[in-house]
Amino acid sequence: MNIALILAGGTGERMSAGLPKQFLPVAGRPMLLRTLDAFESHPEIDRIAVVCGASWAAHLRSLLDAECYRKLTGGTAVIDGGRDRRESSFRGVEALLRECAPDDIVLIHDAARPLVSHRIISDCIAAAAEQGACAAAIPVTDTIYHCPDGGRIGDIPDRRTLFAAQTPQAFRLSLIHGAHCAWNGEPVTDDAGLLLAQGIPVRLVPGDVRNIKLTNPGDLPLAERYLTE
Ligand code: CTP
Ligand code: MG
Repeated sequence: MNIALILAGGTGERMSAGLPKQFLPVAGRPMLLRTLDAFESHPEIDRIAVVCGASWAAHLRSLLDAECYRKLTGGTAVIDGGRDRRESSFRGVEALLRECAPDDIVLIHDAARPLVSHRIISDCIAAAAEQGACAAAIPVTDTIYHCPDGGRIGDIPDRRTLFAAQTPQAFRLSLIHGAHCAWNGEPVTDDAGLLLAQGIPVRLVPGDVRNIKLTNPGDLPLAERYLTE
């Protein structure tokens, strides 16, 4: 079984919208519903779960009541979020492990990336089935300065070796659960980082420049342009 775990437990501080950004309309439809649409309509996705902050669960349920997502089922349809992304992901994975099989594949995806394509989803499923762990990413276009002290250029890594992380990141459920359980408390940016910290290889899947994470107010018109092009 292939499961989409949608992380919608953040508050969207940088968007400064007065409500979590995943509930903002993007071209007339709430961002989170657009993200759910992408997975609901994908033929290889069997089940969907959403992680959401407890104080926004009622709002989410009222949105979902007006929709008919066939794949949002069982006790994991809406899961309480955590204080940060890692904790939200862990809670989602733990809840899924109670109802799903250890070798099921889970695609962990940011609710704030409503423009994810079916091609990326398919490629993530195939790579995770083959290797156990993968993450979508795109080559960086800017030269990146590495500045360990924040004020002076330390070194300039070869751009050809640098990729910007996106989501989905897809894993065998037991593998990502084990990585969360073995987490040593050091800050990690995402789920792929948890595996890498334990020496587990994560395959790169080509992302897409359009698969942006809507983060700042200026990202909304860009996403709307992509949606209407
Ligand atoms: N996320 C989550 N639980 C958290 C924090 C983040 O599920 N406690 C989710 C967000 O809802 C988002 C994804 O992780 O879909 C990526 O995080 P980000 O873009 O940083 O969203 P926010 O944390 O909500 O935004 P900000 O950092 O600006 O506050
Ligand atoms: Mg954040």
